[in-house]
Amino acid sequence: MSTNPLFAPFALKSLQLKNRIVMAPMTRSFSPNGVPGADVAAYYRRRAEGQVGLILSEGTVVERPASSNDPNIPHFYGEQALAGWQHVIDEVHAAGGKMGPQLWHMGVMSGHRSGWKPTEAFEGPSGLLKPGEATGKAMTENDITDTIAAFARAAADAQRLGFDCLELHGAHGYLIDQFFWAGMNERTDHYGGPSLPDRSRLAVELVEEVRRHVGEDFVISLRLSQWKQQDYAVKLAHTPQEMEAWLQPLADAGVDIFHCSQRRFWEPEFENEGSDLNFAGWVKKLTGKTTITVGSVGLSGEFLAGFAGEASEPSGIEELLRRLDRNEFDLVAVGRQLIVDPNWVEKIQQGRADEMKGFSRETLATLV
Ligand SMILES: Cc1cc2nc3c(=O)[nH]c(=O)nc-3n(C[C@H](O)[C@H](O)[C@H](O)COP(=O)(O)O)c2cc1C
Repeated sequence: MSTNPLFAPFALKSLQLKNRIVMAPMTRSFSPNGVPGADVAAYYRRRAEGQVGLILSEGTVVERPASSNDPNIPHFYGEQALAGWQHVIDEVHAAGGKMGPQLWHMGVMSGHRSGWKPTEAFEGPSGLLKPGEATGKAMTENDITDTIAAFARAAADAQRLGFDCLELHGAHGYLIDQFFWAGMNERTDHYGGPSLPDRSRLAVELVEEVRRHVGEDFVISLRLSQWKQQDYAVKLAHTPQEMEAWLQPLADAGVDIFHCSQRRFWEPEFENEGSDLNFAGWVKKLTGKTTITVGSVGLSGEFLAGFAGEASEPSGIEELLRRLDRNEFDLVAVGRQLIVDPNWVEKIQQGRADEMKGFSRETLATLV
């Protein structure tokens, strides 16, 4: 299968990958008190053994009082949690894999999980849970400075523990994305404003500070989405020009990879441009940076409907290969297929279509 573009190696700075397949970051909530244990390490090791090119961890939160809403979501701070992550990366490396943590701050959330409450109120750019509904607190400039420092510390720790790269979670309506989105960012200071570049200042400063801590050669990925969990129809950038004005400052600040989250990778990003390029395709074209596509690879249905109970069947990847072959994007993230099946990559490589599995939300109950 040497002609399959998914199995071409890839190199960027200090990151060298054996193929183009990335395990998408997926919250599993199996880390009691924020500490990933041996079961979590074994789960990631199985994906490395299954020949995933790059594993991105589930979102793991930085050190702010209300960066998480669930005690079972892993921390990326504190002695015990970092010792847990050390074990994870050692296991992945022992199996020949590569991995980066996805660093996360949730921002203002609708509720708490597992009977736990953070010590302080949820925080966001303007304290909004969604447009027009304030349930959290608006961050002060001190809160913002402290949050940027927390991300930078976590980034330095990722490098010190031996991770191969890192990802910043700037998508899906969580903290960084809450700053991007006018519907949730009503600030009139340096971190808000009428234009998307105005509202990107938090992200730009955060990327600059992370870059300062990890040096030039360590790969930084930034995950972005136009859609929000609060509103699937929202778009931050409505035209390629707006998209370029949004992303160029982030590229200049130090982003190496834009991880472009769509719910369905084949959907064209701009309806009126006479182009079928998807989000990752446009970002690669506009910034010249490496991009990752994602969204319903190898499955019939998309993931949010999956959370609501819709089952997905395995599907072919011909359209994905066609787009990869024409260099629309560089890497391909796969989510649910890699939750249900650590050996999905080998099955794709060996054409074992009849052994592919579907996804139903019941499969989230255990770490397979
Ligand atoms: C159980 C689950 C947890 C997820 N958690 C995260 C997360 O922590 N961070 C993130 O950026 N995306 C998260 N996502 C979104 C996935 O990374 C991915 O974008 C989405 O599942 C679409 O890919 P798929 O269709 O291949 O599953 C999650 C998805 C699932 C199914």
